[in-house]
Amino acid sequence: MCGIVGYIGDAEAMPILLDGLRKLEYRGYDSAGIAVLSEGMVSVARRQGKLERLAGEMQANPLLGRVGIGHTCWATHGVPSDTNAHPHADCTGRIVVVHNGIIENYLSLRERLEVDGHVFTSETDTEVLAHLIESRFIGDLYDAVRQSLLEVVGSYAVVVLCRDIPDTLVAARLHSPLILGHGRGEQFVASDVPALLAYTRQVTYLQNGEIAVVTREGARVTRLDGTEIRREPATIAWDAAAAEKGGYKHFMLKEIHEQPAVIAETLRGRMGEDRAHVHLPGLKLSPDELRKITKVLVIACGTAYHAGFVGKYAFESLARVPVEIDVASELRYRTPIVDEHTLALVISQSGETADTLAAMRDAKEHGAHVLAVTNVVGSSVDRDADSILYTYAGPEIAVASTKAYTTQLMTLYQVALYLAEVRGTLDDDARARFIEALQRLPEQMATVLETEPLVKKLAEAFCGVHDTLYLGRGVNFPTALEGALKLKEISYIHAEGYAAGEMKHGPIALITPQCPTVAIAVPGGVYEKMLSNIKEVKARQGHVIAVGATDDPDLRKYADDIIPIPRTAELFTPVLAIVPLQLFSYYCADTLGLDIDQPRNLAKSVTVE
Ligand code: G6P
Repeated sequence: MCGIVGYIGDAEAMPILLDGLRKLEYRGYDSAGIAVLSEGMVSVARRQGKLERLAGEMQANPLLGRVGIGHTCWATHGVPSDTNAHPHADCTGRIVVVHNGIIENYLSLRERLEVDGHVFTSETDTEVLAHLIESRFIGDLYDAVRQSLLEVVGSYAVVVLCRDIPDTLVAARLHSPLILGHGRGEQFVASDVPALLAYTRQVTYLQNGEIAVVTREGARVTRLDGTEIRREPATIAWDAAAAEKGGYKHFMLKEIHEQPAVIAETLRGRMGEDRAHVHLPGLKLSPDELRKITKVLVIACGTAYHAGFVGKYAFESLARVPVEIDVASELRYRTPIVDEHTLALVISQSGETADTLAAMRDAKEHGAHVLAVTNVVGSSVDRDADSILYTYAGPEIAVASTKAYTTQLMTLYQVALYLAEVRGTLDDDARARFIEALQRLPEQMATVLETEPLVKKLAEAFCGVHDTLYLGRGVNFPTALEGALKLKEISYIHAEGYAAGEMKHGPIALITPQCPTVAIAVPGGVYEKMLSNIKEVKARQGHVIAVGATDDPDLRKYADDIIPIPRTAELFTPVLAIVPLQLFSYYCADTLGLDIDQPRNLAKSVTVE
């Protein structure tokens, strides 16, 4: 997830571009860059690090010109550095490109372009676009971009500038957002509305597969096949603060709602063209080495630990490999048995959690191969791991983790299915069914989000309680832990996450009408057992809010309230079941008027022990 901007008009472009990028920094801040066109010359400035670094340098040495493009980067290919920062140029430096998204077939395109003599200067997927457009350019920039994008597999929002066509920007999108802003004698392009609000409220939302030729006077939009599109501009009513959060009251709510899109992004690129196999180019162990793995050791903290806990069920059931899991702060102070046949699975959104890093180094010293699942390119985990799988959740700003968690789950399911194939523990039909179910999850999650009004009502009714119990079994025991953690973190209501079967050994004593129980009771191997536990709570006058299957008549007989989720493979239910629990904690905290995005005493990334 990156932020891109473009400007063409009669004002100086640089301040407008920098201002727009500032509003988009929430989309990534690994590096930033701008390109400005003036008197037949394209000048580019780009820097690793936050935008302010670039802006500081620009103050001393401004780039002058009235046409330009800019980018703030959330790195996905190549470590954050000056050379990997956008804009990227072709061999001649006359065509420059900013891009948000992932070009999945960039390696094959790059190989072909290199054979044709193109020289690459970065490790990014984006640079292939600049060279591809160069290879197609014979005077018509629109056509060169259009032809090039027809060859691209993946997702993109792009803005292209060419020295030889000084009065035009070309912009296009597929699966990444892009908006045109219309002023008087000037036009703007941006990834998101906040970057435009200071200049105009008249916008055109580009749709997937559309490309625009933008001049000072306006924009002409077509589909990639050349078909003309006529669309009246829309008027934005948001104020600037709300717009940064996409109209949501808090980043947490925005991030909860982003989940269907980001879990789809996590899948994209790792499913083969036949959609029957998982591909993990980031995993640097050969099938032979993977078959020799005797144990997976999960290393993580907080929400990432809960993701790893779900992963344990998936790895053991699909790939039949033993999984040991412990919070990193405990793991690092005991003496786990680790050797060269151990796969150390490090899970960390930020890639900077101190305990996780320490436990990872220990595992590495003892000969384990470290496979990291992280959201942050260039983080310490990213640098030190042997193999990397990114979660592609985009920047997570709210302290309480939501979309990072569900993208971690998706990544772990992919690893489990890959291991299962390599180790021969799952037949082709079963694997195909799991892969199909995995691919339905983004759409199903969008359905789960429709329960928001119901969950909000429940939260308003229950946010006054002091204690709650979250119960789950099997693969949803971690869901109970994560649901309880979410409630504690932002609403400050005491929540016990417990394995439902253990309830009789203690927590049952807590049950009163004033201590509601949240129970995850989805169809599967432990469903009947969960029903028994729910009955036990009811027998003690407890109130039960159950997360269960949409079409489950039995659950209705026992639970007081039901939050329905669609059916999927039992192993995958945690991805759907956690969403209403995130919403429940959000609305409890919101009703209580608490600081949701920055709850007391917590930090997004715990970089000290
Ligand atoms: C902090 C955050 C949690 C996060 C945990 C682990 O406690 O508040 O949301 O799950 O750290 O962070 P990591 O970046 O390693 O996933």
